[in-house]
Amino acid sequence: MNYLVLVNKENKIKNHYFKTLELQDTFDVLEEKIQVEKKTLTSYIKLKKFLKDQGVVIAIDSSYRSLEEQRAIINKFEVKYGSEYAKKYVAPIKSSEHHTGLAIDLSIQVNGKFLIENNELMTHEDIFLKIHPYLHNFGFILRYPKGKEKITGYFYEPWHIRYVGVIPATIMYQNNLTLEEYLTSYSGVLVVNKEKNMTSRDVVNQVSHLLGIKKIGHTGTLDPIAEGVLVLTIGKATKLGEILTAYSKEYISSVEIGKLTDTLDITGKVLKEKECHKKINYRKLLESFHKTYMQEVPIYSAVKVKGKKLYEYAREGIDIELPKKEVTIKEIELLDKDEKSFKFRCLVSKGTYIRSLIRDMGQSIDEYFSMSELVRTQQGKFSISNAYTIEQIRSNQFQILSIKEALAEYPSLVVELDLEKKVKNGCRISNDYGIGNKVVIKNNHDKILAIYQAEKSELKPYKML
Ligand code: DAL
Ligand code: ZN
Repeated sequence: MNYLVLVNKENKIKNHYFKTLELQDTFDVLEEKIQVEKKTLTSYIKLKKFLKDQGVVIAIDSSYRSLEEQRAIINKFEVKYGSEYAKKYVAPIKSSEHHTGLAIDLSIQVNGKFLIENNELMTHEDIFLKIHPYLHNFGFILRYPKGKEKITGYFYEPWHIRYVGVIPATIMYQNNLTLEEYLTSYSGVLVVNKEKNMTSRDVVNQVSHLLGIKKIGHTGTLDPIAEGVLVLTIGKATKLGEILTAYSKEYISSVEIGKLTDTLDITGKVLKEKECHKKINYRKLLESFHKTYMQEVPIYSAVKVKGKKLYEYAREGIDIELPKKEVTIKEIELLDKDEKSFKFRCLVSKGTYIRSLIRDMGQSIDEYFSMSELVRTQQGKFSISNAYTIEQIRSNQFQILSIKEALAEYPSLVVELDLEKKVKNGCRISNDYGIGNKVVIKNNHDKILAIYQAEKSELKPYKML
C-alpha cells in the first residue's frame, strides 16, 4: 500500500492502486454507511478522540468515493454553484484523492450542529485552525492549504485532510510543503548512526521506505562490520555527496592481534596467523603512524581499477596490483589495551582505510593485526552525538538538516543581482576573490544557488542547486 500516492489533475489514479487498497466500513456524519482506508480510519479515530479532549468535535463528511460517486458530486456542485465553482473545489473523475480512500472531508460541530456545506465551514475557519497543527501527529496533512493553490490545483479547503503516515506528514508540516512539493523537490541531509551488520545500502533503503522518498544516497560507505556516522543525502542534496565525504573523519577502532585476513577485518578468511610474544609499546607504535603516507587500498573495497571494482577481482581470484593513495593520520591515540587486543581513536583524511592502517601498524612491527570493531564518530561537522539510529527515525525522533544547514561552515560567496543571474544560468564568473577550491554561491537573500569551483582565473559551476 502506497500511502504517498499522488492523485491530482496531472496524476490520475491507476487501476493497480485498487489491488492493495483495503477499505473499512464506517458511518458518516449523517449516519450513512461509508468506507475509509483501514489505517486512515484507525488514525482518524485517534485524531477524533484527541480533538474531543481539546473541545473540538469532528465527524466524516466524505471519504472514499468510487468513480460514479465523484461524478455525482461534480453534477451536484455544478447544479448548485455553477461549473466555475465546481472546478475550483471538485476534482475531475480519476483525479480525486477521494478515490484513494486516504482522504477525509471533515465536518465540525458548532453549537451542537454538524456543518457540512462549504460556505458554512468557511465561516468557522477558526475551528479548523485549532485542528491543523495536530494533524501530522496522526499522519495527516492539510492537502489543499492557503497560498499553495497553484501547486495543488485547488482552492483552500480547510476540511480536506489526507493520510500519508506520521513521518512524511511531520516533515511536510515542519517545512510547509504540499504533497506535490514533498515528492518532487524536498531535499536535505540526514545523519544516521548505523548499527552493525547492515550495509550502507540497507540504511538508505530503510530510510527511503520510512520517508517515502526514492532519491536518497549515502556518502562515505560503512562496511557491515562498522557502526556510526553515515550521512544520507535526500533529493537534490545527493549532489553534495562528494563534498560531504571530503571532510576528515574520526574513528574509534579495536584491533585483534595475531591474525591477518583477506578482508583485513575479523570477518575475513584468515591468511596468516602468529601469536605475538612481544611487549608492544602502543603509544610509540601509534605515534609512528601520526603522519602522511602512501596507503595500499584493501582488495575488498569498491575502489575501481581498469573500470572494475577491486572486490570483483578478489572474488574471481584475479591477481591485481593494489593502488596506493596518500592519506594523512591527523590525530591518533590509544584508548585501551590488553593481551590480545587494543583500541584507538584517530582523525584521518578522506579516503583513509582504517583496516589498511591497522594492517600497516602490524606490518611495521612484524606482527599480524585485524580490525575487530569500527565506529565512525565524526564526519566533518556531523557527529555521532547528533546522529539518529534507524529505531529513532522509525519512531519519528529525528531532524533532517536543510542543505543550507549542512553547508553552513563551507566557504561561501555572496553575489549581487548581476552575478546572480549569471550563476543561475550556470555561466563562469571571474575569480576576483582568491578562491582556491570549491565555494558555495549565495544570493544576497542567503539563498544557495550553486557550488562553484576555481579554475585558473575563473570560477566554474561544480553543482547547480
Ligand atoms: N475536493 C477535492 C479537490 C476533490 O474533489 O477531490
Ligand atoms: Zn475532499
